[in-house]
Amino acid sequence: MSLQLNRSSFGDPKNAGNTLSKDDANQLLNDWIKNERLKLHMKQVAYLMKSWAAEKEGLSESDQWRWEMAGLLHDADWDQWPEEHCKKIIEELESRNIDPEIIRAIASHGPNHFGVQPETRMDKMLFAFDELSGLTHAYSLMRPEGYAGMELKGIKKRFKEKAFAANVNREEILDAMNRAGVELESIMQFIIERQGDVK
Ligand SMILES: [Fe+2]
Repeated sequence: MSLQLNRSSFGDPKNAGNTLSKDDANQLLNDWIKNERLKLHMKQVAYLMKSWAAEKEGLSESDQWRWEMAGLLHDADWDQWPEEHCKKIIEELESRNIDPEIIRAIASHGPNHFGVQPETRMDKMLFAFDELSGLTHAYSLMRPEGYAGMELKGIKKRFKEKAFAANVNREEILDAMNRAGVELESIMQFIIERQGDVK
C-alpha cells in the first residue's frame, strides 16, 4: 500500500491565515475518529505544537492555533481510511479553504510515507513531535505513576530498547530531529514536562 501523495503544492495561497474554529476542528476530530487512543494522540501532538509555537517560536495566538490545528488533525483520516491516510484530510481541508501552510504541515508529517519533505518550522516540528510523543505515551502507560515523576533517563532507555514500542521507528525520529535542528534530549524533556497535562 503506497501512501505517496505525488504532489508538492497544497491548498490555495489566497487562503493564507484561514483556520477552522476550535469548535469546528474538534467536531471534525470527533466525527472522524472513534478510536480514543488515537484521539488522545492527536490532542497530545496539538498541545505540544501549540506550546512550542508559544514558548520557543514566540508566535502570536492566531499562529499558535495554526500550529495546534496542524497537530490536532494530522492523523484525522487514519482511523477510518488508513489506505487514504493523509490524502483524505488534505482534500477535506482544501475543500474548506484552509491555510495552505497548515495543510502542508500535515502533508509532510511522514516524508518517508507521503513523499513530501518538511520545509517550514511548523512542518519540521510536527514531524519531530509525532513519533516521539507516541513513544513517550507508551512509556507512560507502563509506569504505575503515568507521567508523574517521569525522567529523561527513563525515556532515553526506552528509546534505545528496540523491543519497546517496536513500531516506533527510531531512525525516523533521529532524522526528524536533524531536520528540525533540535536535540533529541531537549525534545524528550519538552514532551515529558507537558504531555501529562493532556486529558
Ligand atoms: Fe501522529
